[in-house]
Amino acid sequence: MPISNVKTDESQQIAQYWNDIANDFDAIYTGNKNPLARILDRWLRRDIYQRFDWVMREAGDARGMNICDVGCGSGRFVVGLAKRGAQVTGVDFAPEMLRLGAQLAEKEGVADRCKYELSDILDWKTNEKFDMVIAIGFWDYVADPLPRLQVIRRLTKTTFLSAWPRAATLRAWIRTVRLKVAGCPVYFYTLPQVEDCLQRAGFRVEAHEILGQLHCVRSVAV
Ligand SMILES: C[S@@+](CC[C@H](N)C(=O)[O-])C[C@H]1O[C@@H](n2cnc3c(N)ncnc32)[C@H](O)[C@@H]1O
Repeated sequence: MPISNVKTDESQQIAQYWNDIANDFDAIYTGNKNPLARILDRWLRRDIYQRFDWVMREAGDARGMNICDVGCGSGRFVVGLAKRGAQVTGVDFAPEMLRLGAQLAEKEGVADRCKYELSDILDWKTNEKFDMVIAIGFWDYVADPLPRLQVIRRLTKTTFLSAWPRAATLRAWIRTVRLKVAGCPVYFYTLPQVEDCLQRAGFRVEAHEILGQLHCVRSVAV
């Protein structure tokens, strides 16, 4: 069934891709796969676990915080942050991802602190503002970051944490081919490109670190 909440062909393609592989994606976190695949994940996808730890470290004691997770997927960050005491809203355009997220929130006993919204972030209508916004594993699937960054800037009171796949690496090239075959476009960024986009959207970069294939950036709204 086509995804009904997206407007462009490319968004449709990306939402459909993530909807179809939602369970497989979440298995990277649960390790619910054969032992060899688990070992390969721990080796080749190490930065997926590292970026999770980075966000939890940056969020610190999140009690009382109101946080938005853009492209929240299966809700791993939403639930992780809710378990640290935050009120968290996850936004994603793949319904199956949100179903897994809601299930996880129930299982972990934090459903009362988690909310999920089915939308392309570009079209999400809200008057809410958040102490912190995160967008992790998201920019890989965005052809033109600025319009979505401008939406995120309007949502952000203070801090924005983002992880961007690094351009010009061997793994970037391999991923481009793999995802092209799977029917999902993918995009990569240099650090100057990331800094330029963030600045144009109204953020100041406070800290940057490279974790595996990623630029992980803490910025603040100015
Ligand atoms: C690689 S998953 C990452 C999920 C989660 N952030 C994580 O790291 O575990 C990317 C997610 O972004 C979502 N996504 C991509 N573009 C989006 C958009 N424009 N609006 C809302 N969700 C989007 C996809 O549906 C998918 O669930």
